[in-house]
Amino acid sequence: MPKLLVVETSPRGDSSVSRHMTRSFVADWRDAHPQGEAVVRDLAVTALPHVNAPWLAAYFTLEEKHSPEMKDALRMSDTLVAEILTADHIVIATPVYNYNVPAALKSWIDHIVRKGYTLGFDGKGLVTGKKATVLIASGGVYTEGSPIRDRNIAEQYLRLILNVIGITDVTVVAGGAAKFIDMGEETMAAFVAKHAPAIKQASSV
Ligand SMILES: Cc1cc2nc3c(=O)[nH]c(=O)nc-3n(C[C@H](O)[C@H](O)[C@H](O)COP(=O)(O)O)c2cc1C
Repeated sequence: MPKLLVVETSPRGDSSVSRHMTRSFVADWRDAHPQGEAVVRDLAVTALPHVNAPWLAAYFTLEEKHSPEMKDALRMSDTLVAEILTADHIVIATPVYNYNVPAALKSWIDHIVRKGYTLGFDGKGLVTGKKATVLIASGGVYTEGSPIRDRNIAEQYLRLILNVIGITDVTVVAGGAAKFIDMGEETMAAFVAKHAPAIKQASSV
């Protein structure tokens, strides 16, 4: 039974462009995988703690030597890592904030890049044989030919992190110019429809 992990980031609920892209993706994925199971990790609901001193103390201690406090410190990270390791396809939906991913998603990344679990001690990624799709909503446009192409940091960063943990099959659907929806110059439906073929293609495998 194929398993999809959906990571949502936007705090904007129904006004969120990236969440509407996810809805389109999940509907297509369910059509393509009627027996599949989708698990949602909503970072607007799960407020992840930043990596702190107790977390790091646990991170740098061998698992068999973990104290109860260390186990507690890593519990959420363990859960998030398990969600990735048991998924076949990971879809990450995110806004661009200040040219990068929002802090909530960066925090998720800090929790899932775990030596010995998702990243080998030799530096090779351990999350192999999986596919990832990244759905990005941004006010600006960062695709080929854009005068601000060099600011396409969120996409590059997510590709890099996914590659680092071993996911090389990465599709990015870049939902640029989303600001026209907020300005009332484009409908959400028209915007999502423009990206629907790319979303369907990514969800079908
Ligand atoms: C705090 C903040 C920072 C933003 N920074 C950028 C940015 O650097 N580049 C950009 O293209 N859009 C930026 N935007 C616009 C958002 O990416 C855009 O509104 C997008 O639709 C948000 O995703 P969402 O609709 O899923 O919440 C920013 C929006 C906010 C609220």
